[in-house]
Amino acid sequence: MARKKTAERKKKKKKSATRKTVAKKAPGKKAPAKKAAAKKGVAKKGAAKKGAAGKTTAKKAATKKTAKGKAAARKARSRTTARTTPSERGVVPETFRAMRIFDDDQGYRGEVVDQTIDEQSEGDTVIRVAWSGINYKDALAGTGKGKIVRQFPLNGGIDAAGTVVESQSDEFHEGEEVLITGCGLSETRDGGYSEYLRVPSKWLVPLPKGLTLRDAMLLGTAGFTAALSLWRMEANGQTPDMGPVVVTGASGGVGSIAIDILTRAGYEAHAISGKVERFDWLRKLGAQQCISSQELYWGEKPLESAHWAGAIDNVGGDMLAGLTRVIRPWGSIASCGMAGGVGVRTTVMPFIIRGIGLLGINSAGCPYSIRKELWSRLASEWKPAHLDAIENSETTLDNLSEYFETALRGGSVGRVLVRIGG
Ligand SMILES: NC(=O)c1ccc[n+]([C@@H]2O[C@H](COP(=O)([O-])OP(=O)(O)OC[C@H]3O[C@@H](n4cnc5c(N)ncnc54)[C@H](OP(=O)(O)O)[C@@H]3O)[C@@H](O)[C@H]2O)c1
Repeated sequence: MARKKTAERKKKKKKSATRKTVAKKAPGKKAPAKKAAAKKGVAKKGAAKKGAAGKTTAKKAATKKTAKGKAAARKARSRTTARTTPSERGVVPETFRAMRIFDDDQGYRGEVVDQTIDEQSEGDTVIRVAWSGINYKDALAGTGKGKIVRQFPLNGGIDAAGTVVESQSDEFHEGEEVLITGCGLSETRDGGYSEYLRVPSKWLVPLPKGLTLRDAMLLGTAGFTAALSLWRMEANGQTPDMGPVVVTGASGGVGSIAIDILTRAGYEAHAISGKVERFDWLRKLGAQQCISSQELYWGEKPLESAHWAGAIDNVGGDMLAGLTRVIRPWGSIASCGMAGGVGVRTTVMPFIIRGIGLLGINSAGCPYSIRKELWSRLASEWKPAHLDAIENSETTLDNLSEYFETALRGGSVGRVLVRIGG
């Protein structure tokens, strides 16, 4: 009897040992793959700078990295089952395509290259980019006609929307759809013209309900800037009952979306454009009056008769100077753009006699809480009613330069999407 019990105990022990081995093996099997992915992708923070700091610092960093890698692996294991498809699980290919901007002895240029994720700026999250778009700033960066890119080489593209494939952040998980606009993309860090993009998750906005990834990039920085302009004007007291709001550079990305959003928000929108042939299209977006910029005459006095209750200005220069003289008392001008010039010759009279407000619009550096709020509005009450009409065309990484040239000569109409992995 005693011998039988001992035999049974031995049998049980063996069984539980087998179970333990299996339980241990499963995560053990996945962890190295995730660790390798983390090493290749998101877990590079500070690694390059550690060399001179000595062994202790390097060791600490390595320990931290391993701990982070393990945490990421744990997180990934707990989430992969329900929320992701196999293609979304930590799969960053060895190389992928990106439009990279160089400024070296071969000159300033954008080239489509094969790159690895480790060649990109650091960040705790990698997204597979589905769509990007073309903004005036992308044209300046891509051609070198404006001082946008501050370090070389750098991937172009100030916008991106896609799916998280690796993340060490607690806020984002693999398979989640996100977007990013501005935040230094294509200025101080690699941008969205790339099949994969590594970024700090603190700048990612979860794709709001009501928008697809494609919609998000149809809006892009342009749509976000139009929304930020109206948001700032309303914060400064602008209301629809004060009268019409005029939009300059109306046929471009920011301009056309601004016309649509203003109309949706209950404003009477007027358009100033250099493209008379686009007036019917602008009316379709909501413009109740269209004015040719070639026929504009502001008068010479510091204060001329006031036509509009507010303005969203994409042109700058003489256009902005003129607007300051014709805005009604207590109205706001959102100064977004400088496609027509950077110098502004005006007087203090509009500000101290009519009390108008000149509001600076900086979409790239917009604080995260406002960013999130505006994207949620763009997906709901401010979602343009004519997104289909605002979409001009779709292109790929290989054909960006022709669109850049068009933008720089003032030829943009609506929005151009860049299909990357979408
Ligand atoms: N502050 C910010 O955060 C922010 C964000 C996004 C954009 N922006 C600026 O806002 C402006 C519009 O951006 P976008 O992306 O909408 O550009 P876009 O799509 O290229 O449109 C620009 C439009 O401006 C008008 N324009 C007038 N004079 C021009 C000139 N000399 N050169 C080029 N265009 C001229 C044209 O419209 P018409 O023919 O209808 O007059 C043109 O279609 C740009 O200056 C851009 O840098 C600023």
